[in-house]
Amino acid sequence: MSYEIETTRLTLGPFHYADIDRRVALANDIDVARMVAHMPHPYTRQHAIEWVARHDAGRAAGTDYPFAITLKGVGLVGAVGLHKKDSPVFDLGYWVGKPYWGRGIASEAARGVMDWARDNISLTEATACYFEDNPASARVLEKIGFAHTGTDGLCASLGRGEKARSFNMIWRDSSVKSR
Ligand SMILES: CC(C)(COP(=O)(O)OP(=O)(O)OC[C@H]1O[C@@H](n2cnc3c(N)ncnc32)[C@H](O)[C@@H]1OP(=O)(O)O)[C@@H](O)C(=O)NCCC(=O)NCCS
Repeated sequence: MSYEIETTRLTLGPFHYADIDRRVALANDIDVARMVAHMPHPYTRQHAIEWVARHDAGRAAGTDYPFAITLKGVGLVGAVGLHKKDSPVFDLGYWVGKPYWGRGIASEAARGVMDWARDNISLTEATACYFEDNPASARVLEKIGFAHTGTDGLCASLGRGEKARSFNMIWRDSSVKSR
């Protein structure tokens, strides 16, 4: 299975330790951390090193497919990935460093990963959720084919240090006819 995705402006692939400092610089931002569930804040080199060290095992187990988002000619700008927690269904997550917001990068990266997953891990269904105060993420998910389930919940965020209201979305491969 190839673990390199090429899109118009991006390369998506495994994280390299050489990108740790850049990851920390972009991820150590409360405006990023508060919109995701599992990013500690402040975010340190140690957090990043431990996170990257888990990737091979997650991929081997078939439970985690994290990708570094590299903007061609620039370098690392964020992360996107599919992860299974307790559920049998993969959950999509992503973030982009603030200097790169508003350029369509999250949408391009997330679409690239969903296409890769359909072709490489036979993904037919995935979930995602976004916090109530994150309309930009809702828009990203809509653009790549996720739909609201009509359900909401309270999700924890390490960055917020508390739970916050979130909305659930689902993606189903439109080429699967039996649904
Ligand atoms: C959310 C996030 C990933 C978006 O990244 P991005 O690269 O700027 O996203 P894109 O440019 O691909 O798309 C953003 C869309 O949201 C829209 N948008 C931005 N701010 C918005 C707002 N306040 N209300 C409604 N829509 C908004 C943009 O106009 C764009 O839609 P369009 O292409 O139809 O114009 C980025 O802000 C981020 O990393 N935030 C912190 C982490 C996070 O939220 N992760 C997702 C967790 S669910």
